[in-house]
Amino acid sequence: MDCLEAIKTRRSVRRYRPDMIPEQDLLEILNAGRLAPTAGNFQPWEFIIARDRETIAAIRDASYERQELLATPPVVIAVCADPKRSEYYGERGMTYFCILDCAIATQNMLLAAHALGYGGCWVGGFSEKKVRKVLGIPDNIRVVSLMPLGKLAEGEPWDPPKRELKDILHWDKW
Ligand SMILES: Cc1cc2nc3c(=O)[nH]c(=O)nc-3n(C[C@H](O)[C@H](O)[C@H](O)COP(=O)(O)O)c2cc1C
Repeated sequence: MDCLEAIKTRRSVRRYRPDMIPEQDLLEILNAGRLAPTAGNFQPWEFIIARDRETIAAIRDASYERQELLATPPVVIAVCADPKRSEYYGERGMTYFCILDCAIATQNMLLAAHALGYGGCWVGGFSEKKVRKVLGIPDNIRVVSLMPLGKLAEGEPWDPPKRELKDILHWDKW
């Protein structure tokens, strides 16, 4: 699948088959995250890969309203930012660039997972404090996204409407 095809056909997947993702594919997905662009090339991220059922259940408990999409995935990746690594850019680096960098890595991984035949979803609705506790993440580290991944369950994905290109473009001026 080429890049444009992956971008056009990726959709959030929220129900998964329980089959484990082979390590080779998982590493390919994680590597796509590693290759994302970052401000100053500081690469301020750490990726935590949860595969243990109990850990994934605890992550679900840390999500807002115990989100159902965290009930069945064989893998959940937590994308974390270390603000210290972006310190060179001061406040903006530590509160903004490092988060953006992790957002790009998350999207790279979602696209790679899709290209390899898996589905995933960005989960932002969670208590950072609780996720830190479950995964043993130090207090100075930001948890930017959780990403459940797996083979698609029957009926997935849903295709949500998108705003039309003509409605969001501003040529030359707002
Ligand atoms: C920052 C961010 C946070 C999100 N948080 C959640 C979430 O907590 N739970 C969820 O089911 N989907 C979450 N999503 C997925 C969006 O709902 C989804 O991307 C959007 O509805 C568009 O659908 P699509 O990804 O299929 O194009 C999040 C997406 C982003 C970018």
